[in-house]
Amino acid sequence: MIQKRMRAMVLTGYGGLEKLEYREDWPLPTPHGDEVLIEVGACGMNNTDINTRIGWYSKSVTEGTTAERGETGFGLEREAASGWGGNGISFPRIQGADVCGRVIALGSGAPEALMGKRVLVDTWLRDWSDPDNVDKCRYFGSETDGGFAEYTKAPAKNVHPIESDFSDAELATFATSSITAENMLRRAGVKADEVVLVPGASGGVGSALIQLARRRGAIPVAICAETKVDQVRSIGAEAVLPRSPDNLPAALEAAIGKPQVEVVADVVGGTLWPQLIDCLRRGGRYTCSGAIAGPIVEFDLRTFYLNDLTLTGATTIPPGLFADLVGYIERKEIKPLLAGTWPLESLREAQTAFLKKQHVGNFVINPVG
Ligand SMILES: NC(=O)c1ccc[n+]([C@@H]2O[C@H](COP(=O)([O-])OP(=O)(O)OC[C@H]3O[C@@H](n4cnc5c(N)ncnc54)[C@H](OP(=O)(O)O)[C@@H]3O)[C@@H](O)[C@H]2O)c1
Repeated sequence: MIQKRMRAMVLTGYGGLEKLEYREDWPLPTPHGDEVLIEVGACGMNNTDINTRIGWYSKSVTEGTTAERGETGFGLEREAASGWGGNGISFPRIQGADVCGRVIALGSGAPEALMGKRVLVDTWLRDWSDPDNVDKCRYFGSETDGGFAEYTKAPAKNVHPIESDFSDAELATFATSSITAENMLRRAGVKADEVVLVPGASGGVGSALIQLARRRGAIPVAICAETKVDQVRSIGAEAVLPRSPDNLPAALEAAIGKPQVEVVADVVGGTLWPQLIDCLRRGGRYTCSGAIAGPIVEFDLRTFYLNDLTLTGATTIPPGLFADLVGYIERKEIKPLLAGTWPLESLREAQTAFLKKQHVGNFVINPVG
């Protein structure tokens, strides 16, 4: 028999870490219609959780996601803050998008075949009668409750059975970072033998970009902190450049024999941004899904139009891409980079450690033990 109450980490409003409240008496979600109830085996952490909590997506915020702001928040009024989609989210909210777990109950319209299955959750919730409509997309663990709890629920169409000998924690490293990275490569149309420059290559999305660029035969070149160079090289980077090069084209020339690249796949932005654009070859493509070092950048329009550059944003994911990702994981075409696991009640401590950016890969919350 399933219990009626569960342990959960509940976000009570926009702000600092104090807005995360550990509860042992939270009501279990009830699956309705096509939804399924999932016992969470592990749930990965992302910057999105922190950005949403501190209200970073608000236009009034102009700085990057720093360790200090990640702990204290920006002190925004509720009306001034917003979620990733431009609208406020409602509280209380259970965050956590990257769920690996088991289906333990079904709504009245959910397929019997899912019962008992080990699954990953596709983090992009859609109106399945209009699945390509990006205005109707919502994010699991942001606009609905997610996986920082013992149990969660999701629409059956978002629930993908997986056959894998990776642990739950390892499987919980993939969803947000890898689907974002694959979508960036798709948006930039990355082909075999093209060079893809990846700032922030030690992080969740960056390390996935390195692996997924290799997977499609492209040549990833990483930028990361000096302490992480060996690990980043070991996941497939052709070359690894320093985080703050004096002259990025010169560093590229020294590393790969040419000063320019076909594609930049960026989640960092900030002060390095003009150099990233400067090292694109004529006709090059820049794709972006984050701005951890700062969202406001200096942009010389002449570089853009005189070099026939293409810039793409990459956030919402087309239907079908998550199923492709599950295939890559099952066939071990990409591997997990599990940097650490934390118990559910230590989510605040886990976020403090995550914000220090001393790790390579992803942190995962384990609600079981
Ligand atoms: N649009 C979307 O759907 C989507 C999805 C996922 C993530 N994102 C966004 O993408 C960004 C990166 O996400 P992630 O999960 O890959 O993050 P992450 O795991 O924290 O990695 C980010 C990496 O960026 C590097 N970095 C460079 N300059 C930095 C700075 N000033 N402050 C902090 N880190 C800096 C760090 O690596 P080094 O120390 O090695 O340089 C860090 O490990 C975040 O802003 C996140 O919100 C967006």
